Amino acid sequence: MFDRKIQMVDLSTQYHRWKEEIDEALQSVIESSAFINGPQVKQFASHLEEYLNVEHVIPCGNGTDALQIALMRLNLEKGDEVIIPAFTYAAAVEAAVLLGLTPVLVDVDSRTFNISPEAVADAISERTKAMIVVHLFGQSCDMHPLMEIAKQHGLSVIEDNAQSLGAEYIFPNGETQKAGTIGEIGTLSFFPTKILGGYGDGGAVIVHDDALAEAVRMTTVHGQSAKYRHQIIGCNSRLDTLQSAILDVKLRHITESIAARQAAAAYYDKALKEVEEIVLPYRLLASTHVYHQYTLCIKGGKRDALQAWLKEKGISSYIYYPRSIQEQEAFKPHIRISGDLSISHQLTNEVLSLPLHTEMTEAEQHYITHQIIAFFR
Ligand SMILES: Cc1ncc(COP(=O)(O)O)c(C=O)c1O
Repeated sequence: MFDRKIQMVDLSTQYHRWKEEIDEALQSVIESSAFINGPQVKQFASHLEEYLNVEHVIPCGNGTDALQIALMRLNLEKGDEVIIPAFTYAAAVEAAVLLGLTPVLVDVDSRTFNISPEAVADAISERTKAMIVVHLFGQSCDMHPLMEIAKQHGLSVIEDNAQSLGAEYIFPNGETQKAGTIGEIGTLSFFPTKILGGYGDGGAVIVHDDALAEAVRMTTVHGQSAKYRHQIIGCNSRLDTLQSAILDVKLRHITESIAARQAAAAYYDKALKEVEEIVLPYRLLASTHVYHQYTLCIKGGKRDALQAWLKEKGISSYIYYPRSIQEQEAFKPHIRISGDLSISHQLTNEVLSLPLHTEMTEAEQHYITHQIIAFFR
């Protein structure tokens, strides 16, 4: 056995790596008592705008709110259809249903796990107004064909980029843009385990257009254009100053964080490539991969047995996602299904994510891969 249980993430060791900077940032917020909308919120947003090379990043309470706020500002009407992948986290579907929109579920690409452009094209009806593409596990969706379809049919594109901050998409003409900055609106989550994770909830909306940015900003503060001037229906969704201060420190280190994830993924790739029953994470040529998750497909119906084996050996692993959206009770009455969603369903039985984070050691990875290989022997 390894000398301790190997967890999916190790936020405590990461904190100690940057402890001085984080403690200092927190202390300065506490000393100032500017817990809501302190100067660190704007400062963090502007640093993120620089990193993403976009005009506007509007911080908010979490990644789910970010999706709801984005949908609120797209001039959609009740019953309008929004195309969403069936294999994803529930937040996008939930936000659409809450606003009286109809999520139209489409299948994903079996290799990348991301929304299939062909499935999107097949799903379009007269009521289709938007699509939410989700950049799953650290890799961008294939944005070129998706943007072409959107242009052709006049659809808005929301990019749910909760999982792939920093991934770059390369268009066929060689132009490169960061995931989340390509569509009309992008959304981010700063949930602690994300690529840029805070010490609690957090999120942001990415916008290019000035007027839309102002509307999004107002939406996060009860629709106010000025204090006690409620101009549109909004909500209360703010990023705490303390979280902003932490995130601003972590953003300084994002390039090194992503490199650490990529190095850990490369180790797994090399160690596991000979195992017949394992399909390694596929790398889309048009996108870099920042490995929010390192997700294998386990063939031959052996996924659950492998997970139990790893647990016995003190190794955490996780199934993202054990059910696709159409299999969830709550959503059934509200969705339209396009196509057979068979790949999404198949993935729920095959995917397994291994521990992967910025603090992984070779010794841990050696132990994990050794145990996986032993299982298949
Ligand atoms: C793809 C995706 N979208 C949205 C969210 C929602 O983010 P949050 O937990 O910050 O509300 C998550 C977070 O888990 C996610 O993975």
